[in-house]
Amino acid sequence: MSTVETHVVIVYESMYGNTHHIAEHIASGLGIDGVQVHVVSVGEALPGLLAAADLLIVGGPTHVHAMTSATSRHAAIAAADQDGLQLDPAATNPGLRDWFDQLDIVDGTEAAAFDTRVDGWALFTGRASHGIASHLTERGYRLLDEPESFLVDKHNRLVADEAERATAWGASLAAAMHRLLDHHW
Ligand SMILES: Cc1cc2nc3c(=O)[nH]c(=O)nc-3n(C[C@H](O)[C@H](O)[C@H](O)COP(=O)(O)O)c2cc1C
Repeated sequence: MSTVETHVVIVYESMYGNTHHIAEHIASGLGIDGVQVHVVSVGEALPGLLAAADLLIVGGPTHVHAMTSATSRHAAIAAADQDGLQLDPAATNPGLRDWFDQLDIVDGTEAAAFDTRVDGWALFTGRASHGIASHLTERGYRLLDEPESFLVDKHNRLVADEAERATAWGASLAAAMHRLLDHHW
């Protein structure tokens, strides 16, 4: 058993809390002996923490078929009032696009991307995870897995079993890292 700890950082953007919730479940799938997992909002994802990451996982909501924009984030805040939705504490953070602009370039650190989006054909809904994955690779990260989506219904509630699927995805990323690093997690 190796004594070297593996650091995983999960960065989430979330307006109504679903992506935040999924991030916590991914963490629970990853969180086994020898792995330290930090789940942080975009506003808390500072360079010192990221520099120590062996695996960076980034997720955000799909807005207008893609990653959020300043306009879509404002629309989401306005819609929360109308639709009786609770805003996540991270809703007033910067969006992932601004965060990526500031993200240091690395040399092949492992990464993975996820999003939340409405349940339906991805062709029609779009998926923010593809944009997130592109930003990660542009910054020098290497994708450990395909981008993954977790689904909400039209009332912005997670579809049944999506939280459990997120835990399973976290466990599969842990297994992939295990194979890659060739040491026991
Ligand atoms: C302004 C706005 C635009 C949206 N556009 C899309 C979209 O194009 N495709 C989609 O699947 N979901 C769309 N959604 C639904 C979001 O994906 C959903 O609210 C989000 O996944 C919930 O995550 P959160 O609770 O972390 O904010 C949109 C939501 C808002 C507020």
